[in-house]
Amino acid sequence: MESGRSLDDAIAALDRALRSVFAPARAARPVPGGAAEGPLSAAQQRESAALMRVNHSGELAAQALYHGQALIARSPATRALLMEAARAENDHLAWCETRLAELGARPSLLNPLWYAGSFAIGALAALAGDRTSLGFVVETERQVEGHLDEHLGRLPVGDRRSRAILETMRAEEIAHGVTAVAAGGERLPAPVRALMRRTARVMTGTAYWV
Ligand SMILES: [Fe+2]
Ligand SMILES: [Fe+2]
Repeated sequence: MESGRSLDDAIAALDRALRSVFAPARAARPVPGGAAEGPLSAAQQRESAALMRVNHSGELAAQALYHGQALIARSPATRALLMEAARAENDHLAWCETRLAELGARPSLLNPLWYAGSFAIGALAALAGDRTSLGFVVETERQVEGHLDEHLGRLPVGDRRSRAILETMRAEEIAHGVTAVAAGGERLPAPVRALMRRTARVMTGTAYWV
C-alpha cells in the first residue's frame, strides 16, 4: 500500500519534471505591464536576452526545488503550500519564456540539468523536516529577490517590458517568503545559506551564456 503510494508520487513527480523542462510553460495570468517597447540596440537586446535566460532558468530551478520538497514533505499542509508556490513560479517561468522569444533568444540548453539538480537539492532539504524545508523556501525567495534587484539594475533602461516582468516577480517572491515564514519556516544556518548562494551563482553565471 505504502510502496504503491510512493510509486504514484514518483510517477507524478517525473511527469511534472518532464512538463516543466520540455513543454512550453502556460501562464495562468497575462504577462505583466505590456508596456510599449523602447528602441533597443542590438547589444541591448543581447544583454536583455542573456538576463532573461538567467531568470527563466532561475524560475525553473525554483519550481524544481519546490517539486522536490513537496515529494518529501511530511504534512499535507506543507505539501500543498509547496505545490502552490511551484504553480506561482510557473507563471514567472512562462512570462520569462514569452519575453525570451520576443527578444529572439532561446532558453538555457542546460535547463534539464538545472531542473534535476534543483529537484535533488529540494528533496534533500525536505529530509530535514517541514520547518527546515519551509525555511529553505524563505531563504530561496530572499536570494531570488536580491538577484532580481541586481538584474533590475543591469537591464537596459529602454527594456520596459522585461522590467515590468521582473518587478512583478520580485513582489511575488517577497510574498512567497512571507507565506513560508507564517507557515513556520525556520531560519537556516549561515553555512547552508552561503552554500545556497554559491550553488545559485553557478547556475546564474552559466545560464547567462549557455
Ligand atoms: Fe518566481
Ligand atoms: Fe517565488
